[in-house]
Formats: sequence, structure tokens, C-alpha cells
Amino acid sequence: PRYIWLSRHGESQYNLEGKIGGDADLSERGFKYAQKLPDLVKQYIKDHEKLTVWTSTLKRTKQTAQYLTYPKKSWKALDELDAGSCDGLTYEEIAERFPEDFKARDDNKFEYRYRGGESYRDVIIRLEPIIMELENQENILIITHQAVLRCIYAYFMNVPQEESPWMSIPLHTLIRLEPRAYETLVTRIKADI
Ligand code: F6P
Repeated sequence: PRYIWLSRHGESQYNLEGKIGGDADLSERGFKYAQKLPDLVKQYIKDHEKLTVWTSTLKRTKQTAQYLTYPKKSWKALDELDAGSCDGLTYEEIAERFPEDFKARDDNKFEYRYRGGESYRDVIIRLEPIIMELENQENILIITHQAVLRCIYAYFMNVPQEESPWMSIPLHTLIRLEPRAYETLVTRIKADI
């Protein structure tokens, strides 16, 4: 069997403050998730099975992976959707400072591209090499960000791309995908922290 494991990074300082983007450290709770992750993974992956951990280039994903002893690789293509001029703001601040953008995103979250940043469609395009590489691999654990995971999840679940922005990818939850010929089986494992 070949599994693709997905996880968001542990809760970050920015998550706590409701800010988007950035390159914040994990919060205390986020670190707890990182500490739990090796045991959680070991419950499902036997010692002789191979696993490779992929992260983004951002601190919060590397910190989440830090206690895992498997081979690791970090990819720029796994960095969070670039929020451009809105990077580091809360949604309230965006609504105040860029009301037209806020509305445009609400009207079409899939196509909306942040000023100087990206849309969900842009993220899907830059994920193409990742998806290609995944097809050739054995077990992979991908520790990355909410928007990126929504796109990867929608791809494997055969959900139309336009619905990617609404996939539910909670914090502190491991998602195991098992791609089969006609469907992908999903298991969600919630860490208790
Ligand atoms: O809030 C965490 C976060 O990963 C942000 O960095 C990112 O902009 C956002 O989630 C993506 O979610 P949404 O597309 O729903 O704003």
C-alpha cells in the first residue's frame, strides 16, 4: 500500500493572532503537536516501512517536522499561498484597508489574486511538480499550509479545482490518503493536545 500523509504545521503565533501569511514560529500548542507527531506516525507506519517528510521552506513547517527522524526535503512550491500586500494582516484589517479586494475574494475565492500575491488557481499551477513527484514516490508525509493542503486534498479526492478553497483541513490532524484506481480512501487522525 502507498499512502500520502498530510498535515498542517502546528498552530503558529500568527494563527493565534489571526494574521495570515508571514513566517512565524509555532505557538506552545503548536510545539506540543510537533512533539506528538512522531508517536502518532509510528502508530500507523511500521519501523521497516519507508517514509519521507516534505515541508515548505517556512519555519512553522520545519519546526513541526523537527522531531521526526525520517529523511526530509523542503520545497518552495509548498509555501503558503502568497497574500502579497495583505501578508501579516488579519481578515478584519484586510476588510478595512482593502474593502474592494475583500469583497472580490468573497465573490470568487478561487480566482481572486492578492495584490502582488497569488490566487488558489496560481497555487494549483505551482503544485504541479509536487503532484508529479508524488506519483513516483512511496510513503510521503507532507507538512505544509492550509491553502496548499486544500489544493492537494481536492486533487486526490477528485473534487473540482474551484472547490479547493472550501476543503476542511483542521490544525493538529493527520490525514491519510490511500489513492486507489477509482477513489481515494481517507482516514483522519486527530491529535489530542
Ligand atoms: O490563516 C492561516 C492561513 O494559512 C493563511 O496564511 C492563509 O492566507 C490562509 O490560511 C488561507 O486560507 P483562506 O484561503 O481561507 O484565507
